[in-house]
Amino acid sequence: MTTQTINTVDRETQLLRDELLEGLRRPQKTLPSKYFYDEIGSTLFEDICTLKEYYPTRTEIGIMRDNIEQITRQLGRRCLLIEYGAGASVKIRLLLDHMRSIAGYVPIDISGEHLLAAAGELRREYPSLHIFPIPADYTQDFELPEIDVPHDRRVVFFPGSTIGNFTPAQAAEFLAHIAEVVGEDGGLLIGVDRKKDAATLEAAYNDDRGVTADFNLNMLVRLNREFDGDFDLDTFRHRAVYNGAEGRIEMHLLSKREQVAHVAGEQFTFRSGESILTEYSYKYHPEEFAHLAAPYFTVEKVWTDARALFSVQYLSAR
Ligand code: AVI
Repeated sequence: MTTQTINTVDRETQLLRDELLEGLRRPQKTLPSKYFYDEIGSTLFEDICTLKEYYPTRTEIGIMRDNIEQITRQLGRRCLLIEYGAGASVKIRLLLDHMRSIAGYVPIDISGEHLLAAAGELRREYPSLHIFPIPADYTQDFELPEIDVPHDRRVVFFPGSTIGNFTPAQAAEFLAHIAEVVGEDGGLLIGVDRKKDAATLEAAYNDDRGVTADFNLNMLVRLNREFDGDFDLDTFRHRAVYNGAEGRIEMHLLSKREQVAHVAGEQFTFRSGESILTEYSYKYHPEEFAHLAAPYFTVEKVWTDARALFSVQYLSAR
């Protein structure tokens, strides 16, 4: 590592430490949901996507499969496809297999290593595709660099209902940013989870095998390892509830008893039953999402499944 790389890593660790401590000092203790995704957390998330209770992933793929001709027609020819939070997923392959004369593919991901590995695999499978991987945290101030390939329009692909992990205010800000990135005549292909009965939602985030619980508790494992924490994992438990008034799943880590924990040199006290909020996952009726996006985008098309669990939407920039 060069001195400059070490300084960048130090600065990022310092910023993360400040962010974590600031959240834990609040009356409702919080941890940022991006902190789920270390190597173990990312693997656990992949497991979640295959759970019988977790309907979003397979439903979104099903919707895309059933409507792939219409979806790719909507994207048009000579489109530069920009994926936010790129994985080596089946979803991007579905698009690439059916898009006519795609200009290029720009995957953006916070994990540079993961991104380059995924881009390498795609290069082998699609040798004529122009791929421009960009390692970046798109939740922070982020500007897309000039992409040197002729194209007629830009479309951002943001699947998985990751938009639901932002508050509506943050989501609106993010949509404004995407509108700027795609510019005039640009578009957004996005997966948005729909509102539904609380039982289906709560089952999806409280699976029988306890994979989501492990995913949630992994936050404390990371704090112990990376910031010298002493959280006793046996004294916290996972809980996910649907807050119908706010239209969101809330994930918490609940302290089973009164206790004190330390992390990054600070001490935090917990009452019995007190929680750390780790994630929101907002759900939207299509009309609600259209309203949220309206200042920046017009919804052109909403595809859904027979049970109206999930939606894939195409929006054009205003
Ligand atoms: C990544 N994101 C869309 C998932 C969700 O459903 O909100 C994260 C997740 N949390 C628990 N299970 C899945």
